[in-house]
Amino acid sequence: MTPTRHARWAVPASVAALALTACTGPENMLDPAGPAAGRIAGLWWYLFVLGTAVFIAVVALFTVPLVRRRRAGSAGDGAPPDLSGEEGTSRRWVAVGGVIVPLAVLAAIQAVALPLGRDVSPAAGSGDELVIEVDARQFWWHLRYPDAGFETANEINIPTGRPVRFRVTAADVVHTFWIPRLHGKVEATPGRVLELVVEADEPGVYPGRCAEFCGLAHAQMKVRVIAHAPEDFDDWLVAQAAPAEDPATEAQRAGLEVFRTSCVYCHAVRGHTGPSDVGPDLTHLASRSTIAAGVLPNERDHLGDWILDPHGSKPGARMPPAQLDDPELQDLLDYLESLR
Ligand code: CUA
Repeated sequence: MTPTRHARWAVPASVAALALTACTGPENMLDPAGPAAGRIAGLWWYLFVLGTAVFIAVVALFTVPLVRRRRAGSAGDGAPPDLSGEEGTSRRWVAVGGVIVPLAVLAAIQAVALPLGRDVSPAAGSGDELVIEVDARQFWWHLRYPDAGFETANEINIPTGRPVRFRVTAADVVHTFWIPRLHGKVEATPGRVLELVVEADEPGVYPGRCAEFCGLAHAQMKVRVIAHAPEDFDDWLVAQAAPAEDPATEAQRAGLEVFRTSCVYCHAVRGHTGPSDVGPDLTHLASRSTIAAGVLPNERDHLGDWILDPHGSKPGARMPPAQLDDPELQDLLDYLESLR
């Protein structure tokens, strides 16, 4: 290949490589972390290979006659080729290429996709999975563990090696729940409960997101599944089911009073306030790694910024800014950081 021809290939190859980098990362559905996601990724590769083969065959059928005809034209006297007697061949091409081959391709797809759809559907579950209720809100995820009897938000902790049944619904508009490395998407629709049975093979953090436009902060409606070894999950479950510990310092006690006058209309802390699910349950807020539905790390500075100016980091968030002076904010942060 001459340098010029190399250069001709370099641009499309670079663009393709750049485009493919978008397919990597922690939300890569082609890097499955559970049985259902593995089957779905397998179907993706099957369709990719089949689609590529069909594409190459169609391009070949298109270009080969053109090249042949051009060669015949340049070798002959310039008169159009004699096509008499080719009608029967054309009919065969239409019958085979237009009917038989497409039917064979569609049958090959259905033969794999239909059993897969059945195997990864919630109906295929055993029925004794760990149940987690997922209630999508603008722009966060309300979570409930009905057997253990507590609520939390945005970070879904599950055990490895055990199927988990998500019961997904929504409180306001239509959202879509999607953890790409664990399963396909499921719509979160007000008034309906759709289910998804998910299993994680290894401990780890599996990020996901709302995958349906649901309002201004849609792109910042993230969710994460955190998979633990079974014994670690049991410890987590026991800790989360307990009410919040009482404040231990003067500042924390003052912070609880700030919470009771400023935050309590939307947020609940079990043991310290009445119930409210307008905003996320904060009983064990300090045990979470992120705030604002996965938008910010759960660190004191970010938490302070979030409380005073939620829309600065998440435009469209439903949380109003809190009117607090600095001593009140510091007491509140002391209190929130004690909610382990
Ligand atoms: Cu919720 Cu997009």
